[in-house]
Amino acid sequence: MKNNNIYKNLYNGEWIESINPPIDIISPIDNTSFGKIQSMNEKEVNTTVTNAKLSQITWGETPINERAGILHKAAEILLENKHELSLILQKEIAKDKKSSLSEIERTADFIKFTADEGKHLHGETVGSENFPGFKKNKISFVTRVPVGVVLAISPFNYPINLAASKIAPALIAGNSVVLKPATQGAISTLYLAEVFNKAGLPKGVLNTITGKGSVIGDYIVTHKDINFINFTGSSEVGRHIASIAGMVPMLMELGGKDAALVLKDADLEKTADNIISGAFSYSGQRCTAVKRVLVEEEVADSLVEKLKERVEKLKIGSPEDEVDITPLISSEAADYVEGLIEDAIAKGASLITRSKRKGNLIYPVLFDKVTTEMKIAWEEPFGPVLPVIRVKDIDEAIKIANASQYGLQSSIFTKDIDKAFYIANKLEVGTVQINNKTERGPDNFPFLGVKSSGMGTQGVRYSIEAMSRPKAIVINIEN
Ligand code: NAP
Ligand code: G3H
Repeated sequence: MKNNNIYKNLYNGEWIESINPPIDIISPIDNTSFGKIQSMNEKEVNTTVTNAKLSQITWGETPINERAGILHKAAEILLENKHELSLILQKEIAKDKKSSLSEIERTADFIKFTADEGKHLHGETVGSENFPGFKKNKISFVTRVPVGVVLAISPFNYPINLAASKIAPALIAGNSVVLKPATQGAISTLYLAEVFNKAGLPKGVLNTITGKGSVIGDYIVTHKDINFINFTGSSEVGRHIASIAGMVPMLMELGGKDAALVLKDADLEKTADNIISGAFSYSGQRCTAVKRVLVEEEVADSLVEKLKERVEKLKIGSPEDEVDITPLISSEAADYVEGLIEDAIAKGASLITRSKRKGNLIYPVLFDKVTTEMKIAWEEPFGPVLPVIRVKDIDEAIKIANASQYGLQSSIFTKDIDKAFYIANKLEVGTVQINNKTERGPDNFPFLGVKSSGMGTQGVRYSIEAMSRPKAIVINIEN
């Protein structure tokens, strides 16, 4: 998998190097080199995709039970190596130790659940007699078949979970996979590829492509032998891929600006706990992070006080320690967040906690009295900044929540279940959480975004169905 800290790509069951000079992966913790990855050229990408297409034929005919056995084995190997892999995550993407281990354990559960769910994949028969003008002389035998070669593109923030949540459902459905990880995060994702390889996946069924998305991305997504694109990343890149890829089915998990709507009857202690964990875990670098609070004026002072107490208790430092806030993924990301903070201060937001930066480390920031003129009210910081917007009533909260370009999730905090349902029905998002932070799991739940937050539905069964298709064979009976 690697030589002298130079990581290779998985091609046809072997780890290979590219002709181009490798890319240096710099740790966000201390800006030191953590290793190098390959920078594949178009010819190498083409060879990989062509081989994945050939390898899919036999894999698609392999009994699901056998495919499931390999996935179970992969989950076991992943768990056996969780401490080693957790150290890689800590160094490569500065994810704190607890979150790193939890990402790996959750992924093993996801792979096992997918293996079992795949065994329930079945078809149906449809008769003709129900349709006007037809007799009982036709039967359509509908089975589910693979789509072919799945291109999986994963983001930096969950290099294991958001790669496996594409790979495992694609594989159990009988597809081969070409995996393009985020450049920052690629070393972690290549480790995952090796786990599947060690589990006994036949050669060529899972292959990796590394290199900057801005350089080889367009070539891969428009390759004629890619039959499905499963992408997670920013709305900007997702929109670009959708605009150039042509008639290829896609699943897209994109950005978010999840709102927590706090009603005046909410349990404010529980609400504050949820909001803090939702907003600040992994320093806010989660698509589902709580990215704005819309609180009814009557309880705003009290909620802000409780949030302040909790923000001040967050532990800040290096991922190997038991901390909540770690350095952001890059200096560009930290610059962007700093810009949003400065904009809010300049436009008169109340800075409730101290704003401070050391390298890529942004200390957690809580703003009160944020207005809709400020960038932080609308933009996705992907960092530890939480804006509180005070509203006069729930209708204003709904209006502001829905004015966002994003539509991933929202939370409603209230004791009034009727009001919760009234609001939930009006919110333009994929999922509404009642009295809980916004979050993806459990991973068998449907997970989807609307508007700029995505296309299609993930979640174990949903992902398997998305990456397989019905195949109908019609028997015509003479009578
Ligand atoms: P990103 O910059 O959009 O990158 C995502 C992936 O796309 C990376 O693998 C990247 O490769 C690749 N890429 C870039 N340009 C490409 C192109 N032209 N063609 C094909 N691939 C290309 O996103 P990120 O910074 O890694 O992740 C953060 C974003 O993802 C946030 O907006 C977050 O909300 C979103 N996200 C959403 C979900 C969800 O489930 N809705 C989950 C996690 C993250 P390189 O790294 O080589 O550029
Ligand atoms: O970053 C996006 C992930 O899908 C969010 O998952 O809610 O479990 O952190 P999470």
